[in-house]
Amino acid sequence: MPASSTRDIPTPSDIPRHVAIIMDGNGRWAKKRLMPRVAGHVKGVDRVRDVIKHCVELGVGHLSLFAFSSENWRRPQEEVSKLMELFVMALEREVGKLHKNGIRLRIIGDLSRFDSRLQTLIRQGETLTRDNTRLCLNIAANYGGRWDILQAANAWIGQHPGQALTEADLASHLALADTPEPDLFIRTGGEQRISNFLLWQLAYTELYFTDTLWPDFNAKALDRAIVSYQKRERRFGRTSEQLVQS
Ligand code: IPE
Ligand code: IPE
Ligand code: MG
Repeated sequence: MPASSTRDIPTPSDIPRHVAIIMDGNGRWAKKRLMPRVAGHVKGVDRVRDVIKHCVELGVGHLSLFAFSSENWRRPQEEVSKLMELFVMALEREVGKLHKNGIRLRIIGDLSRFDSRLQTLIRQGETLTRDNTRLCLNIAANYGGRWDILQAANAWIGQHPGQALTEADLASHLALADTPEPDLFIRTGGEQRISNFLLWQLAYTELYFTDTLWPDFNAKALDRAIVSYQKRERRFGRTSEQLVQS
Protein backbone atom coordinates (compact mmCIF):
# COMPACT_ATOMS: atom_id res chain seq x y z
CA MET A 1 0.00 0.00 0.00
CA PRO A 2 1.42 3.48 -0.81
CA ALA A 3 2.49 5.72 2.07
CA SER A 4 -0.11 7.91 3.74
CA SER A 5 0.81 11.60 4.06
CA THR A 6 -0.61 11.80 7.58
CA ARG A 7 1.56 8.90 8.80
CA ASP A 8 4.71 9.11 6.64
CA ILE A 9 6.48 12.03 5.01
CA PRO A 10 6.53 11.51 1.26
CA THR A 11 9.78 12.00 -0.65
CA PRO A 12 9.45 15.23 -2.63
CA SER A 13 9.52 14.95 -6.41
CA ASP A 14 9.81 17.67 -9.05
CA ILE A 15 7.25 16.07 -11.28
CA PRO A 16 4.10 15.18 -9.36
CA ARG A 17 3.66 11.42 -9.21
CA HIS A 18 -0.10 11.82 -9.18
CA VAL A 19 -2.12 14.69 -10.67
CA ALA A 20 -5.85 14.95 -9.94
CA ILE A 21 -7.99 17.30 -12.02
CA ILE A 22 -11.53 18.64 -11.76
CA MET A 23 -12.23 19.44 -15.39
CA ASP A 24 -14.70 22.29 -14.96
CA GLY A 25 -16.04 25.02 -17.22
CA ASN A 26 -17.31 23.14 -20.26
CA GLY A 27 -20.81 24.63 -20.00
CA ARG A 28 -19.57 28.20 -19.67
CA TRP A 29 -17.13 27.72 -22.56
CA ALA A 30 -20.06 26.73 -24.79
CA LYS A 31 -22.38 29.43 -23.48
CA LYS A 32 -19.81 32.14 -24.30
CA ARG A 33 -19.97 30.90 -27.89
CA LEU A 34 -23.77 30.68 -27.93
CA MET A 35 -23.44 26.92 -28.33
CA PRO A 36 -25.30 24.18 -26.44
CA ARG A 37 -23.56 22.99 -23.26
CA VAL A 38 -22.80 19.63 -24.82
CA ALA A 39 -20.52 21.35 -27.36
CA GLY A 40 -18.31 22.26 -24.41
CA HIS A 41 -18.28 18.66 -23.22
CA VAL A 42 -17.30 17.47 -26.73
CA LYS A 43 -14.44 19.97 -26.81
CA GLY A 44 -13.49 18.85 -23.32
CA VAL A 45 -12.84 15.31 -24.52
CA ASP A 46 -10.13 16.65 -26.86
CA ARG A 47 -8.43 18.32 -23.93
CA VAL A 48 -8.49 15.06 -21.99
CA ARG A 49 -6.51 13.49 -24.83
CA ASP A 50 -3.96 16.37 -24.81
CA VAL A 51 -3.49 16.27 -21.05
CA ILE A 52 -2.98 12.48 -21.02
CA LYS A 53 -0.36 12.83 -23.75
CA HIS A 54 1.46 15.58 -21.89
CA CYS A 55 1.41 13.65 -18.62
CA VAL A 56 3.10 10.75 -20.41
CA GLU A 57 5.73 13.15 -21.81
CA LEU A 58 6.39 14.61 -18.36
CA GLY A 59 6.59 11.25 -16.63
CA VAL A 60 3.57 11.74 -14.37
CA GLY A 61 2.71 8.24 -13.15
CA HIS A 62 -0.96 8.62 -12.21
CA LEU A 63 -3.64 10.93 -13.57
CA SER A 64 -7.11 11.10 -12.01
CA LEU A 65 -9.81 13.01 -13.87
CA PHE A 66 -13.22 13.92 -12.47
CA ALA A 67 -15.63 13.29 -15.34
CA PHE A 68 -19.01 12.94 -13.61
CA SER A 69 -19.80 13.42 -9.94
CA SER A 70 -22.38 11.58 -7.88
CA GLU A 71 -24.19 14.95 -7.74
CA ASN A 72 -24.17 15.51 -11.52
CA TRP A 73 -27.32 13.35 -11.87
CA ARG A 74 -29.11 16.50 -10.67
CA ARG A 75 -28.52 18.11 -14.06
CA PRO A 76 -31.25 18.25 -16.72
CA GLN A 77 -32.01 14.75 -18.03
CA GLU A 78 -30.98 15.76 -21.55
CA GLU A 79 -27.50 16.85 -20.47
CA VAL A 80 -27.01 13.69 -18.40
CA SER A 81 -27.97 11.53 -21.42
CA LYS A 82 -25.59 13.44 -23.68
CA LEU A 83 -22.77 13.00 -21.18
CA MET A 84 -23.43 9.25 -21.03
CA GLU A 85 -23.41 9.06 -24.85
CA LEU A 86 -20.12 10.92 -24.92
CA PHE A 87 -18.66 8.58 -22.35
CA VAL A 88 -19.64 5.54 -24.45
CA MET A 89 -18.21 7.17 -27.58
CA ALA A 90 -14.96 8.11 -25.88
CA LEU A 91 -14.48 4.57 -24.59
CA GLU A 92 -15.23 3.04 -28.00
CA ARG A 93 -12.78 5.35 -29.74
CA GLU A 94 -9.99 5.73 -27.24
CA VAL A 95 -9.46 2.47 -25.34
CA GLY A 96 -7.48 0.85 -28.17
CA LYS A 97 -5.23 3.92 -28.40
CA LEU A 98 -4.70 4.02 -24.67
CA HIS A 99 -3.65 0.39 -24.75
CA LYS A 100 -1.27 0.96 -27.65
CA ASN A 101 0.36 3.73 -25.65
CA GLY A 102 0.85 1.58 -22.56
CA ILE A 103 -1.77 3.38 -20.47
CA ARG A 104 -3.80 1.60 -17.83
CA LEU A 105 -7.42 2.73 -17.61
CA ARG A 106 -9.53 2.48 -14.51
CA ILE A 107 -12.95 3.94 -13.84
CA ILE A 108 -13.63 4.79 -10.20
CA GLY A 109 -17.09 5.42 -8.78
CA ASP A 110 -20.37 3.60 -8.26
CA LEU A 111 -20.70 2.01 -11.69
CA SER A 112 -23.94 0.18 -10.86
CA ARG A 113 -26.05 3.15 -11.93
CA PHE A 114 -24.72 3.09 -15.51
CA ASP A 115 -26.52 1.14 -18.22
CA SER A 116 -25.22 -2.31 -19.06
CA ARG A 117 -23.59 -1.28 -22.34
CA LEU A 118 -21.50 1.33 -20.58
CA GLN A 119 -20.64 -1.09 -17.78
CA THR A 120 -19.49 -3.67 -20.32
CA LEU A 121 -17.29 -1.15 -22.15
CA ILE A 122 -15.75 -0.09 -18.85
CA ARG A 123 -15.01 -3.67 -17.84
CA GLN A 124 -13.51 -4.47 -21.25
CA GLY A 125 -11.32 -1.35 -21.24
CA GLU A 126 -10.05 -2.06 -17.75
CA THR A 127 -9.29 -5.69 -18.52
CA LEU A 128 -7.52 -4.93 -21.79
CA THR A 129 -5.23 -2.32 -20.21
CA ARG A 130 -4.76 -3.79 -16.72
CA ASP A 131 -1.06 -4.70 -17.11
CA ASN A 132 0.04 -1.37 -18.60
CA THR A 133 2.40 0.73 -16.49
CA ARG A 134 3.34 3.86 -18.44
CA LEU A 135 0.53 5.96 -16.98
CA CYS A 136 -2.36 4.94 -14.74
CA LEU A 137 -5.40 6.88 -15.86
CA ASN A 138 -8.28 6.99 -13.38
CA ILE A 139 -11.55 8.40 -14.62
CA ALA A 140 -13.95 9.27 -11.81
CA ALA A 141 -17.53 8.66 -12.95
CA ASN A 142 -20.53 8.69 -10.63
CA TYR A 143 -17.81 9.22 -8.07
CA GLY A 144 -18.11 11.02 -4.75
CA GLY A 145 -15.44 11.25 -2.06
CA ARG A 146 -18.01 10.50 0.65
CA TRP A 147 -19.28 7.49 -1.27
CA ASP A 148 -15.70 6.23 -1.54
CA ILE A 149 -15.01 6.56 2.21
CA LEU A 150 -18.32 4.89 3.08
CA GLN A 151 -17.91 1.98 0.69
CA ALA A 152 -14.37 1.43 2.00
CA ALA A 153 -15.58 1.47 5.62
CA ASN A 154 -18.45 -0.90 4.84
CA ALA A 155 -16.21 -3.27 2.89
CA TRP A 156 -13.79 -3.45 5.78
CA ILE A 157 -16.46 -3.84 8.47
CA GLY A 158 -18.05 -6.62 6.42
CA GLN A 159 -14.75 -8.51 6.47
CA HIS A 160 -13.82 -7.72 10.11
CA PRO A 161 -17.01 -7.47 12.17
CA GLY A 162 -16.58 -5.97 15.64
CA GLN A 163 -12.99 -4.77 15.10
CA ALA A 164 -11.81 -1.14 15.25
CA LEU A 165 -11.04 0.38 11.88
CA THR A 166 -7.63 2.08 11.48
CA GLU A 167 -6.53 4.71 8.99
CA ALA A 168 -4.53 2.11 7.06
CA ASP A 169 -7.47 -0.33 6.98
CA LEU A 170 -9.76 2.29 5.53
CA ALA A 171 -7.20 3.54 3.00
CA SER A 172 -6.68 0.01 1.75
CA HIS A 173 -10.33 -0.23 0.68
CA LEU A 174 -10.64 3.12 -1.11
CA ALA A 175 -11.04 3.15 -4.89
CA LEU A 176 -7.42 4.31 -5.32
CA ALA A 177 -5.94 2.17 -2.53
CA ASP A 178 -2.95 1.18 -4.70
CA THR A 179 -2.19 4.72 -5.89
CA PRO A 180 -0.04 7.35 -4.16
CA GLU A 181 -2.04 10.33 -2.90
CA PRO A 182 -2.21 13.20 -5.40
CA ASP A 183 0.73 15.61 -5.19
CA LEU A 184 -1.05 18.19 -7.30
CA PHE A 185 -4.77 18.95 -7.62
CA ILE A 186 -5.94 21.20 -10.43
CA ARG A 187 -9.41 22.70 -10.86
CA THR A 188 -10.17 24.61 -14.02
CA GLY A 189 -13.15 26.91 -14.53
CA GLY A 190 -12.58 29.40 -11.71
CA GLU A 191 -14.41 27.71 -8.83
CA GLN A 192 -12.34 27.13 -5.70
CA ARG A 193 -13.87 24.02 -4.21
CA ILE A 194 -13.37 20.26 -4.05
CA SER A 195 -16.95 19.28 -5.03
CA ASN A 196 -16.73 15.88 -3.32
CA PHE A 197 -13.71 14.68 -5.34
CA LEU A 198 -10.97 12.64 -3.60
CA LEU A 199 -11.76 13.86 -0.06
CA TRP A 200 -9.55 11.40 1.80
CA GLN A 201 -6.62 11.47 -0.61
CA LEU A 202 -6.39 15.28 -0.92
CA ALA A 203 -5.39 15.71 2.77
CA TYR A 204 -1.88 17.03 1.88
CA THR A 205 -2.21 17.69 -1.84
CA GLU A 206 -1.07 21.03 -3.29
CA LEU A 207 -4.15 22.80 -4.67
CA TYR A 208 -4.09 24.83 -7.88
CA PHE A 209 -7.06 26.77 -9.19
CA THR A 210 -7.22 28.44 -12.58
CA ASP A 211 -9.88 30.52 -14.34
CA THR A 212 -9.05 28.77 -17.62
CA LEU A 213 -12.11 26.84 -18.75
CA TRP A 214 -11.47 23.14 -19.33
CA PRO A 215 -11.93 23.26 -23.14
CA ASP A 216 -9.08 25.83 -23.21
CA PHE A 217 -6.74 23.89 -20.91
CA ASN A 218 -3.69 22.67 -22.85
CA ALA A 219 -0.15 21.38 -22.32
CA LYS A 220 1.15 24.89 -21.55
CA ALA A 221 -1.54 25.37 -18.95
CA LEU A 222 -0.57 22.07 -17.34
CA ASP A 223 3.08 23.19 -17.33
CA ARG A 224 2.04 26.38 -15.50
CA ALA A 225 0.29 24.33 -12.84
CA ILE A 226 3.37 22.15 -12.41
CA VAL A 227 5.67 25.20 -12.13
CA SER A 228 3.40 26.53 -9.38
CA TYR A 229 3.58 23.13 -7.67
CA GLN A 230 7.38 23.14 -7.87
CA LYS A 231 7.52 26.45 -5.96
CA ARG A 232 5.51 25.15 -3.03
CA GLU A 233 7.12 24.18 0.25
CA ARG A 234 5.52 20.92 1.31
CA ARG A 235 5.91 20.72 5.07
CA PHE A 236 3.53 17.91 6.10
CA GLY A 237 3.19 19.40 9.55
CA ARG A 238 6.87 20.25 10.05
CA THR A 239 8.50 23.71 10.16
CA SER A 240 10.41 25.36 7.34
CA GLU A 241 13.60 25.15 9.42
CA GLN A 242 13.28 21.40 9.71
CA LEU A 243 13.09 21.13 5.93
CA VAL A 244 16.29 23.15 5.49
CA GLN A 245 18.09 20.89 7.97
CA SER A 246 17.09 17.65 6.27
C1 IPE B 1 -17.56 20.16 -16.19
O1 IPE B 1 -18.06 21.26 -16.84
C2 IPE B 1 -18.06 18.86 -16.80
C3 IPE B 1 -18.98 18.10 -15.96
C4 IPE B 1 -19.33 18.41 -14.74
C5 IPE B 1 -19.53 16.91 -16.56
P1 IPE B 1 -19.44 21.89 -16.43
O2 IPE B 1 -20.51 21.26 -17.25
O3 IPE B 1 -19.65 21.84 -14.97
O4 IPE B 1 -19.24 23.38 -16.90
P2 IPE B 1 -19.76 24.70 -16.17
O5 IPE B 1 -19.25 24.67 -14.77
O6 IPE B 1 -21.24 24.69 -16.22
O7 IPE B 1 -19.16 25.80 -16.99
C1 IPE C 1 -17.43 18.92 -10.57
O1 IPE C 1 -17.91 19.91 -11.43
C2 IPE C 1 -17.55 17.60 -11.20
C3 IPE C 1 -16.88 17.40 -12.47
C4 IPE C 1 -16.06 18.18 -13.07
C5 IPE C 1 -17.18 16.15 -13.08
P1 IPE C 1 -19.30 20.61 -11.19
O2 IPE C 1 -19.38 21.71 -12.16
O3 IPE C 1 -20.41 19.61 -11.23
O4 IPE C 1 -19.16 21.15 -9.70
P2 IPE C 1 -20.06 22.15 -8.87
O5 IPE C 1 -21.43 21.60 -8.82
O6 IPE C 1 -20.04 23.47 -9.57
O7 IPE C 1 -19.39 22.23 -7.54
MG1 MG D 1 -19.20 23.11 -13.44
